[in-house]
Amino acid sequence: MIEEIKNKALEEGVPIIKDEGLAFLLNYIKEHNCKQILELGTAVGYSAMEMAKLDKDIHIDTIEKNEEMYHQAVKNIEDNNLTDQIDVHFMPIEEYKTDKIYDLIFVDAAKAQYGKYLEMFIDNLSENGAMIFDNMIFHGLIYDIESITSRNLRNLVKKIVKFREMVYNDRRFDIIMFDNIGDGILVLTRRKCGT
Ligand SMILES: C[S@@+](CC[C@H](N)C(=O)[O-])C[C@H]1O[C@@H](n2cnc3c(N)ncnc32)[C@H](O)[C@@H]1O
Repeated sequence: MIEEIKNKALEEGVPIIKDEGLAFLLNYIKEHNCKQILELGTAVGYSAMEMAKLDKDIHIDTIEKNEEMYHQAVKNIEDNNLTDQIDVHFMPIEEYKTDKIYDLIFVDAAKAQYGKYLEMFIDNLSENGAMIFDNMIFHGLIYDIESITSRNLRNLVKKIVKFREMVYNDRRFDIIMFDNIGDGILVLTRRKCGT
């Protein structure tokens, strides 16, 4: 059933996480026993449902601002009996305010806003929690910026590169970059005092 949702999304050009990236994400959740998850960017609910299916005790808040996507995600989640585990919030991420603490924050929305999302939600991360960012190589374009003819796309890719540099140099965080997995996955954790 979820496989059908994935295939439909791919046919319709809905951007969903790549298989390798998803496998990494699910493995990370299992290994680190993540239970409370915040996802930025729901689309049709594919990655949220895959994460929820891992364990009945996992709960996911996922945020989507596109109305069509939101309705499709809600329907898919209902059809898969996952409504107890997944809350889809129909709003711009910028308006989602919460005191909840999450073990994992999966960031998969507007790539140009990754720096902003990091500052918005870092205080919602549990002590040993992680933020995982998708699309960190952006279809390989970060390696070949000068060949991008569209100015908008070039600016977007430059912002991704800037974000990568920013987090690398920020002493608050420990970073692991997996450029060879899916579309590039970045795992960010809080640096422990004295390390
Ligand atoms: C890459 S897709 C998410 C894919 C999904 N995580 C998956 O793998 O199944 C990104 C989604 O984020 C949504 N989005 C982008 N910017 C947003 C914002 N500022 N607030 C809420 N949703 C946003 C888009 O509408 C889009 O559906």
